[in-house]
Amino acid sequence: MNGERNRAQVRQSRFPVFLFAVIFGVLVLMSGIHEGLIVGMDKLKAGDLVQIVVPIVYWLLVAGGVTLYIRRQMKKTYETPMQMLAKAAGKVAHGDFSVFVPTINTPDKYDYLDVMIMDFNTMVEELGSMETLKTDFFSNVSHEFKTPLAVICNNAQLLEKEENLEEKQKESVQSILRSARRLSDLIMNMLKLNKLEKQTIQPMPEAYDLCRQLCECALQFEDRWESKEIEFDVDMEERRMILADPGLLELVWTNLLSNAIKFTPSGGKVTLTEFSDGQSVTVSVRDTGCGMDETTKNHIFDKFYQGDSSHSTEGNGLGLALAKRILELAEGEISVDSTVGMGSTFTVKMPLNLDRDAHNKEEP
Ligand SMILES: Nc1ncnc2c1ncn2[C@@H]1O[C@H](COP(=O)(O)OP(=O)(O)OP(=O)(O)O)[C@@H](O)[C@H]1O
Ligand SMILES: [Mg+2]
Repeated sequence: MNGERNRAQVRQSRFPVFLFAVIFGVLVLMSGIHEGLIVGMDKLKAGDLVQIVVPIVYWLLVAGGVTLYIRRQMKKTYETPMQMLAKAAGKVAHGDFSVFVPTINTPDKYDYLDVMIMDFNTMVEELGSMETLKTDFFSNVSHEFKTPLAVICNNAQLLEKEENLEEKQKESVQSILRSARRLSDLIMNMLKLNKLEKQTIQPMPEAYDLCRQLCECALQFEDRWESKEIEFDVDMEERRMILADPGLLELVWTNLLSNAIKFTPSGGKVTLTEFSDGQSVTVSVRDTGCGMDETTKNHIFDKFYQGDSSHSTEGNGLGLALAKRILELAEGEISVDSTVGMGSTFTVKMPLNLDRDAHNKEEP
């Protein structure tokens, strides 16, 4: 379809008057045949029962035939294409811009639904190229930031060690260092998320002990929970082997634990739990912190979303977006249960996948 002139020529109805005229004609013809049957049976002096049964059977067949024909036409001309379009729209809504819906008719018979499908395909293509542009821009800019930031960090670190600095100068250097590290974290997370979204990093699964990893992650926060006087409880199995990418999953656990400690006030409690059945493992991080309202809960997995502005300087709102993407790639899921003022529980459930490992080893 090129240009508006061709668009004006497309059929504007999928159910033309001609179709209804044909149905009308067929029904008139059928009632004519009905009359013929009555006269025929009269002439043949058919019995009363035959005279009743034959028209009933005849009209049952006619009604059934017409109904089936109309149903088939509606399905073919309307329902099937609409279902295809709805499915494709659903995929686009979830960020898949690779969808393409084929037109129903050949170009010489295009109608308004074909035009709508072609417009849909064009829109998806445009959205896809905008998304690529945006992610490429993000990743290029982030890359360009990395080197100068490393220079700032290194020099600030050197300056910090300088002995003859005044107190005020020292504070300024520390402030520069803090900001540079924050920016550096943001850039690293943006690059990681970008790569995960574009699937330029693929998970590298290996069999490892999840319980050990959870302990190691928790220990990274020991200073933080001790300085905030938070009680930290652990309830997990001794050992739980799992087939997954340890580097990526570590990002999930550290973010959930850092959030729990960050959003729990002094004197609160954080509990890390792990249990498994033969097929999957469930890890949950529960805290007695500030909790979240419904609006916050609905957006926490969005990029750059930070619900609690009092902690907005301690992070960039990328941690949970990253965690969700990682778990999608690991065929896992994350859910949250939270009440304002009472606390939150984040639960991750993922397959153990160990049978897959055994299967891989069996293959030559
Ligand atoms: N345990 C929690 N308790 C209360 N609110 C939470 C909790 N975990 C997450 N949130 C809310 O979800 C938002 C997003 O969390 P996320 O981990 O993505 O970002 P962040 O922690 O603010 O920054 P980053 O993880 O990038 O350092 C947080 O800003 C906070 O509002
Ligand atoms: Mg976080």
